[in-house]
Amino acid sequence: MLLNTFEFALVNNPARALFQRHMEARWMLKSGGAVPDGHALEIGCGRGVGVEIILDRFGAQHVDAFDLDPRMVRRAVQRLRNRGERVRLWVGDATCITAPDAAYDAVFDFGIIHHIPDWRKAVAEVFRVLKPGGRLYAEEMLKAFIHNPIARALTEHPLEDRFDHMAFLGGLEAAGFSIRAEKEFLNYVGWYVAEK
Ligand SMILES: C[S@@+](CC[C@H](N)C(=O)[O-])C[C@H]1O[C@@H](n2cnc3c(N)ncnc32)[C@H](O)[C@@H]1O
Repeated sequence: MLLNTFEFALVNNPARALFQRHMEARWMLKSGGAVPDGHALEIGCGRGVGVEIILDRFGAQHVDAFDLDPRMVRRAVQRLRNRGERVRLWVGDATCITAPDAAYDAVFDFGIIHHIPDWRKAVAEVFRVLKPGGRLYAEEMLKAFIHNPIARALTEHPLEDRFDHMAFLGGLEAAGFSIRAEKEFLNYVGWYVAEK
């Protein structure tokens, strides 16, 4: 599902980039380790800040990344234009990832799976494209946040079949993942590192 105007402005904001770099990436790196010289995928890459983090902080050699929203991909192309052949960007859907099985050492999800009505399909696709031993690094907004009246007034999300922290962990395990690290805050947001 595409972002509404409010959330589009929220994620294309310097404060979002600061939080992503200094809170989310720091925990993911500490909990899951780097991906030195690896080939990584970012699903729902937005304007491309995550790709910079994966290259510069996690040490990936190549990052493929896509987003459902062509406006986001245009911003990411502009932002990452100096990264050359290390980055490949396209418009795509996390429920049908255009990549072969076992293609990636790591997949990054900075807050996108809760936007997908059939979120289990996206988790299954992430599992499919990871190499055995490859890791998913994820940050997700949880059911209690999505159903919060203020969040409902300001943002637009699918409302049916949303997950809380335990349900997301269960969905990862049902897809075949082993959980390596997890953390949640107020049952509003969860962070996960899971291994294929
Ligand atoms: C909350 S934003 C996060 C953007 C970016 N990852 C960040 O952390 O700033 C969610 C993003 O997921 C994208 N998205 C939603 N559904 C998607 C899908 N099925 N496949 C790929 N991207 C999707 C949206 O277009 C949006 O850019």
